[in-house]
Amino acid sequence: MKHKAALKLIEDKLPKKRYEHSVRVAETAKEMAGIFGANRDKCYLAGILHDYSKYDDLGSMYQYVTKYNLDSALLAFNSELLHGPVAATIMRFEHGVKDEDIYYAIANHTSGRPQMLLVEKIIYVADYIEPERDQPGVGEIRKLVFEDKNLDLAIYEITKMTLKHLLKKNRPIYNRTIECYNYYNMVKE
Ligand SMILES: [Fe+2]
Ligand SMILES: [Fe+2]
Repeated sequence: MKHKAALKLIEDKLPKKRYEHSVRVAETAKEMAGIFGANRDKCYLAGILHDYSKYDDLGSMYQYVTKYNLDSALLAFNSELLHGPVAATIMRFEHGVKDEDIYYAIANHTSGRPQMLLVEKIIYVADYIEPERDQPGVGEIRKLVFEDKNLDLAIYEITKMTLKHLLKKNRPIYNRTIECYNYYNMVKE
């Protein structure tokens, strides 16, 4: 999919604020691609598309999980977790976006997972640090990325904060997020 077509697709589908967030994630991801030696086009496209299913109906998301044999554990979660894997599936099967890097980047942008691919790592982090994000600790993550250039440590710190947030809110935790935490705890330097 061309960037222009992707931008149009997202602009038509999502509320203005979410569209603008998507563009900021894409721009941040493209900048990070330059730092970490990733494919800029893939990073930009994955950034644009990552939240495509953000506001889809939960029932239809569950139908995608079943129809395309996605991880059945997802059926215990809400759209906050599901919108990634569902958007990746819709892009692959309904919009002809066949690229594996983009698929994984969209699919796991909320959960993370162990041994993420480079584009996948970049989207996971870019979503957290795009310029309008102002959650506590985001400045530290930006420093890890743009000054220390330590992507794995940034992933670890983001996952740790995500887990803390979920625990504080008494929310369930997806196995893959815990596995992500354990893996990047092990490999970070
Ligand atoms: Fe998202
Ligand atoms: Fe996002």
